[in-house]
Amino acid sequence: MAANLLEVNNLKTYFYTRGGVVKAVDDVTFAMKPGETLGVVGESGCGKSVTALSVMRLVANPPGKIIAGEINFNGENILEKSQNELTDIRGSKMSMIFQDPMTSLNPVFSVGYQIAETVKRHRKDVSNDQSWRRAVEMLDLVRIPDAKKRAKSYPHEFSGGMRQRVMIAIALACNPQLLIADEPTTALDVTIQAQVLELMKGLSQEFGTAVMMITHDLGVVAGTCQNVNVMYAGHIVESAPVQQIFQTPAHPYTIGLLQSIPRVDEVRGARLTPIAGQPPDLTNPPAGCPYAARCPRVQNRCRQERPELMSVGRGNQIAACFYPN
Ligand SMILES: Nc1ncnc2c1ncn2[C@@H]1O[C@H](COP(=O)(O)OP(=O)(O)O)[C@@H](O)[C@H]1O
Ligand code: SF4
Ligand SMILES: [Mg+2]
Repeated sequence: MAANLLEVNNLKTYFYTRGGVVKAVDDVTFAMKPGETLGVVGESGCGKSVTALSVMRLVANPPGKIIAGEINFNGENILEKSQNELTDIRGSKMSMIFQDPMTSLNPVFSVGYQIAETVKRHRKDVSNDQSWRRAVEMLDLVRIPDAKKRAKSYPHEFSGGMRQRVMIAIALACNPQLLIADEPTTALDVTIQAQVLELMKGLSQEFGTAVMMITHDLGVVAGTCQNVNVMYAGHIVESAPVQQIFQTPAHPYTIGLLQSIPRVDEVRGARLTPIAGQPPDLTNPPAGCPYAARCPRVQNRCRQERPELMSVGRGNQIAACFYPN
């Protein structure tokens, strides 16, 4: 079996705010193989972005702090890297794209220049000419029509979907081993969303890039990911190959999420049921299972003890639940 590309062990990332300590990521453990596509899903505020930012070492400090755990990337401990080493790793070995490309693109430089600069920052031996050619090549790869000419355009001259393609071009320009995409298509309309996801999937296969796809939308992971981590209140509550998440979900929260999204394999008009209630306050999480207050299967034990991730007896499927499906 191939060695892991990324190993996150018992990660805790907390925010120290006036309102108290927000336990945004609380004891999270998972791994990714080279080339693997992993979906990270869960309702807003459950710790998806903070998990990703922790891996990139981009958590704002203060108020945020990684207070415990290990993050190993290619066998190297990311938590021990200096700022210089991190700058080197980011962009060349792991890169991240965000929901809103406008916040990441610089409005005063052409998109070609911005891709070329990323290449030059990480490849000292590359000439201006070579890096510009790489920029055009990348724009072509992400299917920007007339890439040679469009490389000279500025971010505001592109549509939302095209800007997200530019971000993907920047993120992949140095051929990273890991791409983290944080809600990359949430701001786009459905048709463009599908095109951008299809493109990312194709490129990751072509280059063997591992992709961590963060989304609140289970529908997005169905077509794009091999494995899925379901997060709830700062914890991973279920992890499994994507087919099992959809066919035999084990955790009541995963079941709740599935019942709240439209499914192509169901009769049209089947009723969607949103999960009642709210996730717990992360400054004061409950002692037992974090899902207890909303769970239709709750028992006494659930309110006293927190369930750890454990096998549910179906291959690689694990869930943090005393009474899994
Ligand atoms: N800079 C911050 N200061 C305080 N709390 C934060 C900060 N960033 C995130 N959080 C909190 O951490 C928790 C997880 O956030 P996040 O990872 O962004 O959720 P999501 O799953 O929607 O990406 C939330 O409760 C959020 O309010
Ligand atoms: S441990 Fe109990 S409360 Fe938590 S998800 Fe399982 S059944 Fe529900
Ligand atoms: Mg987020």
